[in-house]
Amino acid sequence: MCGIVGYVGQKSVASVLLVGLEKLEYRGYDSAGIALVNSNELTVTKAKGRIAHLERALRLKNINGTIGIGHTRWATHGEPSQTNAHPHVNTDGTIAVVHNGIIENYLSLMEELIGKGYVFASETDTEVIPHLVDMYLKEVSSVQEAFRKSIARLEGKYAIAMVTEKEPEKIFFVRNGSPLILAEATDVNGEQELFLASDAPAFIPLAKKVYYLKNGEWGYLNHGLHLFNDKDVRIEPDLQDLKIDVGQVLLGEFEHYMLKEIHEQPDIVQKILTERITEDNKIRFDELELKPEFLAGVGRFIIQASGTSLNAGRIAKLYFENFANVTTDADYSSEFRYRNPVAGGDTVVIGISQSGETADTLAGIYEARSKFLKVLSFVNNVNSTIARESDGIIDLFAGPEIGVASTKAYIAEVLNLLLFSIYLAEIRFMMDESEKIEILNQLKKLPDQMRKVLTHTAKIHELAEKLKEKTSVLFLGRTYNFATALEGALKLKEISYIHAEGYAAGEFKHGPIALISEDVPVIVVAPKGEMRTKMISNLQEVKARKGQVIAVVSENDSELAGLADKVLEIPETPEFISSLLTILPLQLLSYHTALKRGCDVDKPRNLAKSVTVE
Ligand code: AGP
Repeated sequence: MCGIVGYVGQKSVASVLLVGLEKLEYRGYDSAGIALVNSNELTVTKAKGRIAHLERALRLKNINGTIGIGHTRWATHGEPSQTNAHPHVNTDGTIAVVHNGIIENYLSLMEELIGKGYVFASETDTEVIPHLVDMYLKEVSSVQEAFRKSIARLEGKYAIAMVTEKEPEKIFFVRNGSPLILAEATDVNGEQELFLASDAPAFIPLAKKVYYLKNGEWGYLNHGLHLFNDKDVRIEPDLQDLKIDVGQVLLGEFEHYMLKEIHEQPDIVQKILTERITEDNKIRFDELELKPEFLAGVGRFIIQASGTSLNAGRIAKLYFENFANVTTDADYSSEFRYRNPVAGGDTVVIGISQSGETADTLAGIYEARSKFLKVLSFVNNVNSTIARESDGIIDLFAGPEIGVASTKAYIAEVLNLLLFSIYLAEIRFMMDESEKIEILNQLKKLPDQMRKVLTHTAKIHELAEKLKEKTSVLFLGRTYNFATALEGALKLKEISYIHAEGYAAGEFKHGPIALISEDVPVIVVAPKGEMRTKMISNLQEVKARKGQVIAVVSENDSELAGLADKVLEIPETPEFISSLLTILPLQLLSYHTALKRGCDVDKPRNLAKSVTVE
């Protein structure tokens, strides 16, 4: 989704904005642009494609400024092009606006403006904003009033920043549904610097104190943060310490964020276990606002999420049923929000979201609240919209995830959901202390087990060499590893662009078996456990039809090693924990296959890190 940055300060504004936009590249984009104001003159530079193209265009212009805004665009209305790139300006080019989200009533506004003689240059919804401000400036005395009147006309979800020659010292902003963060810092000369951005990594390492705007809040940056609530009452921002350190956002010795984040997973698991399990083996969720007494009485959980987060939710469904003995559904947010879930007052809706901004998951939460259902959300950003709209939140503790393909957030989601299901089992007297301690002891082995799996890169490279030419791959798994099959397929398809499908292995004979040929590799996830023998039958069905089988197996499983063409091993662990290990070789396999196909691993085509539009 689009990224917004803004800066007021003594540094070279163009370079601060470009660096900020680069830090937001992971959000996904297809064009970029910046607007600079220098001695009352506004200049706008835009380019299709990567930020490097914008950088070249700026160098050719050799311009700079003391204040500016920037934007990376992920096309919603209008194709990716220089014309449709932000910032968008009014007719005389004295007002420039960047925007994230969707103006749902832009057509009627456009009609009104065209009727008043305004001419539109782009195909975007955004362009109505500078023309609205221009129109109101003919009626009111200040830019502030004109801006306020303009945003009052907008319907939909948006984050907006605006600069204008008419008040060249100010950046105007508003947040309504799409995240926008303010920050301030002091430069080496003791001068104040002011920032705004869609996400905190854009400020790193310049800013230390941040303020996450709430819906309806607006204002301007100019010698301080001038902030108003949705009733236009001046408010003081409650600045918080920025909890993200540079190391978490910078690549370090890794070539890509995805690889860095894959290798961070053992440490993330260690951190979660440390945060969540006390010395005396109590499981704790300090940030959880929902009381144990309430949770003990919940009759049904409905998990709703998207993409990778729903794959984690599918595993959680089994955890909740098997450990806490509570009815649990798991559904796509985009389906749940249109369902009639026939939910009683004892139902809790669970949202799972790394970004905390996924539009469909947020819509599912609003739907739940419209039915007066309590909402508990597992999020990686506790300042996100989903976090704010939930009755209770559980922090994933995964740290910022920059790679578009989710890896460490997935592991953090599965582990936090597993710990939460054990917590639920305890408060519902469904699990005794010895069983809980046995599980926790198994979990404490995970970080080292994961590190061991992540060293098997030679075999991964060999398999990636074979996969890179394929046009279709099938992934099969059962129960806890059905989600692994789905997640492994999602990873491969979204970064290597190879068609890949995850299937419940029990469904294999109900259709997918027709796909089997020498050209369609089948990846079967078959660790030791209840499902292993059934997975062997699936494997043999593939071999009988000359299919190639790659099996993810427990170490020293000689029988499976003899049956499969290739095996990827994981340390032995209970089947319900194996999902936290079986996904690792599949993450690496998708990463290396994508690399061998020359794909942009961190910024796959057409994808965004957070799908904040429906
Ligand atoms: C996963 O690799 C994808 N990037 C995508 O499916 C993602 O999981 C989905 O969009 C949900 O995002 P969220 O967790 O931020 O809500």
